[in-house]
Amino acid sequence: MPLRVTWHGHSAWAIETGQHVIQIDPFLDDNPSATIQSGAVPADAILVSHGHGDHVGDAAKIAQRTGATVVANYEIATWFARQGVKHTLGMNIGGWAKLAFGRVKLTQAIHSSQLPDGSYGGTACGFLLELAGRRLYFAGDTSLYGDMQLLAAGGLDLAVVPIGDLYTMGPDDALEAVKLLRPKLALATHYNTWPPIAQDAAAWAARVQAETQSASTVLRPGESVEL
Ligand code: NI
Ligand code: MN
Repeated sequence: MPLRVTWHGHSAWAIETGQHVIQIDPFLDDNPSATIQSGAVPADAILVSHGHGDHVGDAAKIAQRTGATVVANYEIATWFARQGVKHTLGMNIGGWAKLAFGRVKLTQAIHSSQLPDGSYGGTACGFLLELAGRRLYFAGDTSLYGDMQLLAAGGLDLAVVPIGDLYTMGPDDALEAVKLLRPKLALATHYNTWPPIAQDAAAWAARVQAETQSASTVLRPGESVEL
């Protein structure tokens, strides 16, 4: 059974296993590049990498409609529970959590994490996912850091890394990240949503193909890859 991984624009991704749907950082209704609204997405689990509005997005709305579990760091999970989200799973960096579809580890991300109402959002994270025999890494908002190489040890089928610059690593550092992560497929995220993070994703993907062992491709919002 192939895994379908869809980019909804900005940092919003969906993973469909055939049995379960996982939404990551579902910033949709106010996302100028999204091709789908929050009212139309299915979800069994919603992973939120950090507290910023472009990642928290519509997670509470989607969770309330679908009954999905919101998975995030402890502070953010507690904040969602206070917003009336029924099922939350709070964890912290370095730990694994077992879910119906597989397991999730919160990874380090070098970034900030204040929630939209000014609440403390703990530490920003990325996600390492093991599901359906695959290993996927979503870096979240982060700078380049050397310990990304530790994530390569178990082999990665997919790495999703930000290339937008300004708030996260830019294309040059994202290329270095791919060299450390050594995924089968590397995809770019967190770019072109607004002018300050405009990037040439095709040029970046071409550099990944030419300068690393990983494959890459460019998705438009709404497009998917199968793994
Ligand atoms: Ni952020
Ligand atoms: Mn962001």
